[in-house]
Amino acid sequence: MTRPIILTGDRTTGPLHIGHYAGSLRNRLQFQDSHEQFLLLADTQALTDNAHDPGKVRRSVIEVAIDYLAVGIDPEKSTIFLQSHLPALAELSMLYLNFVTVSRLERNPTIKDEIRARGFGRDIPAGFLCYPAAQAADISAFEATVVPVGEDQAPLIEQTNEIVRRVNMVARQRILPEARAVIPPSGRLPGVDGKAKMSKTAGNAIKLSASPEEITAAVRAMFTDPNHLRIEDPGQVEGNVVFAYLDAFDEDCVALEELKHRYSRGGLGDSKIKNRLEDILQALIGPIRQRRTELAKDHAYFVEVIRKGTEKAHDKTEATKRKVIEDLGLFTL
Ligand code: TRP
Repeated sequence: MTRPIILTGDRTTGPLHIGHYAGSLRNRLQFQDSHEQFLLLADTQALTDNAHDPGKVRRSVIEVAIDYLAVGIDPEKSTIFLQSHLPALAELSMLYLNFVTVSRLERNPTIKDEIRARGFGRDIPAGFLCYPAAQAADISAFEATVVPVGEDQAPLIEQTNEIVRRVNMVARQRILPEARAVIPPSGRLPGVDGKAKMSKTAGNAIKLSASPEEITAAVRAMFTDPNHLRIEDPGQVEGNVVFAYLDAFDEDCVALEELKHRYSRGGLGDSKIKNRLEDILQALIGPIRQRRTELAKDHAYFVEVIRKGTEKAHDKTEATKRKVIEDLGLFTL
C-alpha cells in the first residue's frame, strides 16, 4: 500500500513561532509515519515580499530546518527540500499562470489580507500577487492530497484545486489530484497583542527559540479582557488571548473548561490564567530550545539533509512536470 502524499512548508523569512507549531508542525509530527511527507523550505516564495533582502531569505533556510528537527521532524521519515533548487516548480508555475486570472488572484482572501498588511498598491511585486499559482505548483508537483497548514492557508489550497481542475479539464483527464487542507480545530492563534494573526511581520509572535524571559514577558503583556478590572468582576473568555492560547496548548481540557467557567463567573484574576499558560509554554518550548541549541552546532549536517531531500524531490517533480506537458498535449521533443 502506498501512503498518501503530504506537501507543506514554510517561507524562509526567519525562525518559526508557536503559531506554526499549533497550526501545522504538530500535525506534521502526527503524519510522519502514516504519510509520505515532503516539507518545503519556501525560499522562492519568501522572496516575493523580501526581494530587497535575499540574505535574510538565505540565512532563514537553515533556521527553519533547525526548527523542524527541534520539534521532532525526522529527516529519515520526512523529506526536507529547497524550493528554489527545483526547476520543475518554476516551470509548472509558469504553466499554471495561464490557468488563473489576475482578478481571481486579487480576490484570494489571504492575498487580500497580506496586501493590506504590507500596504501594497500598484507597486505590488508581480511575484507576490502570483504566488498562489506557484503554491499550486508546489502541491501538485508532488501529487499531494493532504496539506497540513494553518487556517490562513485554506484559500490557497482552494485556489490550488481550482487550477488543478482547470488543467484537468483542458487535458480531458484527471492528471493531477485535488488536495485537502488539514487545519487544527483550535483555529488561528492570535498575536500576543490580540491582533488577528501571529506573524513574524507584525512582531507579535513567540518564537520556538524564545528564551524563558521572553516567554514570561510575552505572557505578561498578553491582551486579556480590558473590562476585567477587579478579580471579582466577571471576565470575558471570548477574544481573550490567554484563553485562545490555552485552547491551543492546554492538554487538560476538563481543567481548562473549569477555569473558563470560573473566569466568566468572576473571582479569577488574570495572573492565575497567565501563570498557567506560562507554565505550559515554558514546558513546551524548553526542550525545543535545548534541541535547537544542540542542532545549531552542526551546520554541515543540515546542508546534507536539505541536499538529499532536494535530490529526492527533484525526481518526483520532474516526472510530474513531464506528465503535465504531455497530457496537456503540448509539443514534446
Ligand atoms: N505559504 C506558506 C507560508 O506562508 C508556504 C508554502 C509555500 C506552502 N508553498 C506551500 C504551504 C505549499 C503549503 C503548501 O509559510
